[in-house]
Amino acid sequence: MRHRTSVAIVGAGPAGLLLGQLLHARGIDFVIVENRSREYALARIRAGVLEQSSVDVLESVGLADNLHERGLVHDGIYLQHEGVRTHIDFRDLVGRTVTVYGQQQVVRDLMAAHDAIGSSVYYEASDVTPSGVETPRPLLTFSHGGESHEVEADFIVGADGFHGVCRTIIPATEISVFERNYECAWLGILADVAPSTDELIYALHPDGFAMHSMRSTTVSRLYLQVEPDDDIANWSDERIWDGLHERLGTPGWTLNEGPITEKSITPMRSSVASTLSYGRLFLVGDAGHIVPPTGAKGLNSAISDVAMLGAAIGEHYDGTSTRLADYSRRALSRQWKTQYFSQWMTDMLHTPSIQTPKDLAAFRYRSQLGQLEFVTGSQHAQQTLAEQYTGLSIE
Ligand code: PHB
Repeated sequence: MRHRTSVAIVGAGPAGLLLGQLLHARGIDFVIVENRSREYALARIRAGVLEQSSVDVLESVGLADNLHERGLVHDGIYLQHEGVRTHIDFRDLVGRTVTVYGQQQVVRDLMAAHDAIGSSVYYEASDVTPSGVETPRPLLTFSHGGESHEVEADFIVGADGFHGVCRTIIPATEISVFERNYECAWLGILADVAPSTDELIYALHPDGFAMHSMRSTTVSRLYLQVEPDDDIANWSDERIWDGLHERLGTPGWTLNEGPITEKSITPMRSSVASTLSYGRLFLVGDAGHIVPPTGAKGLNSAISDVAMLGAAIGEHYDGTSTRLADYSRRALSRQWKTQYFSQWMTDMLHTPSIQTPKDLAAFRYRSQLGQLEFVTGSQHAQQTLAEQYTGLSIE
């Protein structure tokens, strides 16, 4: 089957689905092709915090009603070291906030919006192959339900994640990838228990980082730093709660336990492609870059890429600007600032791996305490954190 469309989007995660909505709002037609099932995308537990900048983008396309109804607006976060917990008040510091609203919920809202407008979204597609992106007529081929499809498009957008096919079709001579692996991983749990805190707690403890986040008023999300090669089988529920009590504890505060409904270990990595465009192919979100989770920037970066690309594609069809040619440079300029922030948060809050020589680890830990005492004691440092955490502007 042959189709013709303006924009062929590979990937129906939040980035691909949101781009479809932004294009629809500008009257531009598109097709979305995804190799996973709809249920898989809805079941994946991912990020939980939306920057003010991301909320603004979702609002601009009328996709923020549920978010405003069910999302939890947080005025700030807590930073904790050696049992001392300090509130960083973003609203006071920079007049901005963040909203706790799970990526799954964002995806559910986007899927409902696509259902409502009858978008062409092909789930469980196989052999998804972009080609001809150096020519004026790129082609996206795939199989779906036993039928072969060929989509002829003006542009192809890779919203297909870090392991997606789109980045891999860029010739090695035209792209390189800058990477940093961290010496740690996060063990994350979801628990059916009301959060024991009103806002997120990021804690440095001699045993490692711990964090208390949430998904709603009845579901808590908690994390523990573990070694990158650790196995989830080593972590009984009891051991996890013990670790969380130990690392998150402060005098007079109680961490409430509840049934753990999900647990997994995620490695931490920073990675940025040297370009987000090649001919008529554009990369957005994890297809172009990933961050460690510490600053909650993964989903937010995807949303900012898509906002920039959607606007630039719109202007291309209106003939009002040539910003599309500049998309990669602009998105990477914002992305490197975000990478810096995520790395800064990660380095400030994680202890070195157990393989680090003891004297070096002791020095590093004490300098991290110095850093946390400085950040929590300085209005300027708190403002810097707040400006970045709530999201840089999307230009
Ligand atoms: C989460 O709720 O999953 C979460 C929140 C903040 C982070 C990372 C993860 O920095």
